Formats: sequence, C-alpha cells, structure tokens
Amino acid sequence: MPSRAHALKLESALVWLACAAPLILLLYWGFTARLTANPVEFVLRDLGLWGLRFLCLTLAVTLLAKYANMPRLMRYRRRIGLWAFAYVALHLTVYLGAAHEFDWAEIGADIAKRPYITIGMAAFALLVPLAVTSAHAVRRKMKPRSWRRLHRLVYLIAVMGAVHYFLLVKADTRSPILYGAIVAVLLAARLLPAARRRVGRA
Ligand code: HEM
Repeated sequence: MPSRAHALKLESALVWLACAAPLILLLYWGFTARLTANPVEFVLRDLGLWGLRFLCLTLAVTLLAKYANMPRLMRYRRRIGLWAFAYVALHLTVYLGAAHEFDWAEIGADIAKRPYITIGMAAFALLVPLAVTSAHAVRRKMKPRSWRRLHRLVYLIAVMGAVHYFLLVKADTRSPILYGAIVAVLLAARLLPAARRRVGRA
C-alpha cells in the first residue's frame, strides 16, 4: 500500500501531466507534421481554446471544492490557473511572433482595429497581475483581502475570453456561445449565494 505522501505525490504528478497534455500533444503533432495546412492558425486557435478551457476549469475548481465537498481540489487551483496563464501567454506569443513576426506597427494597428484583439489583449493584461501574485512569496506580502479581491478578476477575464471568442468567429457561433454559457453559469454560481447572504443580512 502506498503511503499517503506517495499517493499525494502521484496525484500531483497526474494533475501536472493532465494540464501539460494539450501542449505535449501539440508538440507531438508539430514533430510529426500534423498541424494542418495552416499550422500557425491551428496552433494559435488550439492554444487560445485551451487557455479558455483552463480559465473555466479554474473557476469550476473553486465551486466544486465548496459545493461538491471536494476541498482537496483547492490544492490544485493555483496550478490550473497558472496553466491557463501559460496557454494564453503562448497563444499571444504565437500571435506576436508567428502570425505577425513582431511587426509592432502592424500589431498596434490590429489591436486598435479589431475589437476581438483589443478585448483579448485587455484580458491578457489583467491576467498578468494574477499570475505574478500567485507566487507564494508575493502572496505572503499581500493582505489576504486584497489578494482575494484581485483574484476575483479571473471571472471578468473568463467573460472577456468568451466575448473575444464570440467576436472572432465568423459563421458557426455554437462553440463560443457554449463557452459563454459555461462562464455565465460559473459566475452565477459564485454570485448568487453571496447575493442571497446579503439579502438575508438586510
Ligand atoms: C484571456 C485571454 C484570451 C483567451 C481566453 C483567448 C481565447 C481564444 C479562443 C478560444 C480562440 C478561438 C479558438 C478557435 O477558433 O478554436 C482565440 C483565437 C484567437 N485569438 Fe485569442 N484569447 C485570448 C487572448 C488573445 C490575445 C491577447 C490575442 C492577441 C493579441 C489573441 C488573438 C487571437 C487570434 C488572432 C485568434 C484567431 C482568430 C482567427 O483565427 O480568426 N487572443 N482566442
């Protein structure tokens, strides 16, 4: 029988592997030339989609831990959130480097011209302080209340991610609408109990 410490280590390694799996798969597809006829677009879209999925997962973990009596999940929330940041940062890197070859004038014009790029960029800018303050040393220096307030921004970022997705899709909007609905449910599940508590106190 493995000890509890071993079981925890194994669980942690499995969670890490599950988070890295989409990236590993993408690298595998890259090395085996399976990135379709338009590899940049394929990689850009795949990373964006995983960024949004991991953002949703980060929100779902908090709710499941609280309402489905799975407090152990909280141990992995920070890691899942940081993977969301990693996927979005890679998505942005592909956009800047592979899609626009770091042509800053062209990128600036694109950000100003296309609302979905403006929203994506704003969402990324909001994600950066969350990633920075996820470091244990930085978190310890902050007041818990300020840290919690700042990290509530993840809900806004997920909404912006879903809007970004909706705006960029030209024809079939089913997938962005589905992600929008998932984010809306997660947001409602977070806001409604708090609103009920406030009404109860009044
Ligand atoms: C929280 C931040 C972001 C999230 C969650 C996100 C998510 C997504 C998603 C889900 C897609 C569509 C994938 C698909 O079609 O299957 C996408 C596409 C795209 N995103 Fe983002 N994104 C974010 C930030 C950004 C940023 C910062 C940029 C660049 C400045 C960007 C540029 C693009 C582009 C160019 C596409 C592809 C558009 C096309 O193929 O027509 N995104 N993103």
